[in-house]
Order: sequence, then C-alpha cells, then structure tokens
Amino acid sequence: MSSGENILSANISVDYPGKKGVLRDVALDIAQGEILGLVGESGSGKSTLSLAILGLLNLKGGTARGNMAFLGRELTTLSEREMRSIRGRQLSLVLQSPHSSLNPALKIGTQLTEAWKAHAQGSRVQCRRDILSALQMVSLLDGESLLNRRPSELSVGQAQRVLIALAILHRPVLLIADEPTSALDMITQSEILRLFARLNRELRMSILFISHDLLAVASLCHRIAILKDGEVVECGSTEMIFNHPEHSYTRQLIAALPAAPARLEEVVVYSR
Ligand SMILES: Nc1ncnc2c1ncn2[C@@H]1O[C@H](COP(=O)(O)OP(=O)(O)OP(=O)(O)O)[C@@H](O)[C@H]1O
Ligand SMILES: [Mg+2]
Repeated sequence: MSSGENILSANISVDYPGKKGVLRDVALDIAQGEILGLVGESGSGKSTLSLAILGLLNLKGGTARGNMAFLGRELTTLSEREMRSIRGRQLSLVLQSPHSSLNPALKIGTQLTEAWKAHAQGSRVQCRRDILSALQMVSLLDGESLLNRRPSELSVGQAQRVLIALAILHRPVLLIADEPTSALDMITQSEILRLFARLNRELRMSILFISHDLLAVASLCHRIAILKDGEVVECGSTEMIFNHPEHSYTRQLIAALPAAPARLEEVVVYSR
C-alpha cells in the first residue's frame, strides 16, 4: 500500500496562547487511498493536529506554523473563504460524539440538505439522490424514513453513521476521523471500523484515523504514526509498528494492550 501519490504532506508546529510547542515539527504524509492511524495518549496533540489541517485552530486560539500541501495547494496560505470551500467537500471531519455533533433540533434530512447545499448546486431531486446514496453508502438502508427523524430518535450507532454520511456527502479526498468510535460499544465500534474500511476500498477515500486505541488502529490502518507529547516518535507500516516497534514508547503502548496479542496476526484486520 501507499504507493500512490501523497494527497497530504505536512510539517506542523502549533502553539496555544497559554501553551507553546503543543505540536513540534509533526511531519505527516498521506497517500491517495491510504488509511493512516494517529495514536497517542490524551493530551498528546491529536485533535490539535486535526484542527490544524482543517484550518480550524483559531476556534481554540491556536496558531500553526509550517506547511501543509493538500492536493498540491498550500493550505497555510489560503484565506478563510478558500478553506471553507475545501472543508466539507475535499477534506472532511468526523468527531467522537455523534449526538453532540448533530443539531438536536433539526431533522436528519434538513441537516443533510444544508450540508449538500454548502458545496453543490442543483435540483431537489439531485440533492435527494445524493443524500440517499450517501446514506446507503454508510449502510443506512432505510434512508427515506430516517430523513424525517431527529437525532434523539436514533441509536448512537445510527447517529454515528449519519455523521459519516454528512462527512462523505461530497466524496472527500481525505476524511479525518477524530476518535470516531470512542463513544461506541464494542459491536458498534467494530461495525463502524468495517464501514471505514469499505469506504476506503470502494471510494478510494484516504482516511486519517485518530485514536488512543492501538488495537482499533491496527485493525484498520495501513500505516501508523505514534504521537507523544506533540512529537511523532515513530511512523511506519502497521506490520512494522506491531512486530518491530523501534521506540520504547511504542513498545510500552503495545505491552499495555488489555490482552496483548503477541502478533499482528491475532488482531482482527478489516482493511488488508
Ligand atoms: N485552547 C487551548 N489552550 C491551551 N492549551 C490547549 C488548548 N486546547 C488544547 N490544549 C492543550 O494542548 C494539548 C493537546 O490537546 P489535544 O486536545 O490536541 O490532545 P488530544 O491528543 O486530542 O487528547 P484527547 O485524547 O484527550 O482528545 C493538551 O495538553 C491540551 O491541554
Ligand atoms: Mg482529542
């Protein structure tokens, strides 16, 4: 894997007003069609990295330095207007908590329609067709009836699928998923991991999968980057990270797994 062209090539440092060096020269390449896992403990800077790529750090008062080439464009030089035209279209985000990411007051159909109109023009028929196709893509087959429901009328697993449908509505080149399965039970988590693997396979969508769960990451990702205190300490193929970890911190993470599988072969693998 990862023989394709890089769609994202970044080297980023981030400061917050009260906290300097939250990310320090974090280098990240993602190839077309690749799933890259980003693993690190709480506070290591994972969400900061996703916000930096999406150009949303200002929401938290942070500032980024460095470079981020995405599809040949340097994101750090783009205006907010230009970033808005990329976000949600070529570059999308899925967050951890589906119920807090959806608007509780609005029907699912309304939220999907608004997301569609943000980046597309066309008839209501086209809009509906794209929405139903996105819902089908995330295995929400009863799309029609779902459109009239509000988030509170969905299970957490259904709500997470709706969030993913929102994120893939415009077939982004890169989907950033920040702890997308952390709020889910084990069965739902495994279904969502399978879904990401399928989206990657069928749409050739690249995914940056962020998690503190090394097993979930190993089951889905082609390559893994290990983030510790704002620095990438190791990055390599999932096989290399699991079977030949070089950094002592990576070895610690593997040793700390609940029922540490001795080898990668013992991990359920969805993507390979
Ligand atoms: N607005 C802010 N101002 C100052 N420091 C911040 C701000 N936001 C985050 N931080 C700090 O930056 C560091 C990285 O935070 P970040 O949220 O990126 O970590 P994370 O790896 O996503 O953690 P988690 O796994 O808990 O989601 C933490 O030490 C955090 O306290
Ligand atoms: Mg986070």
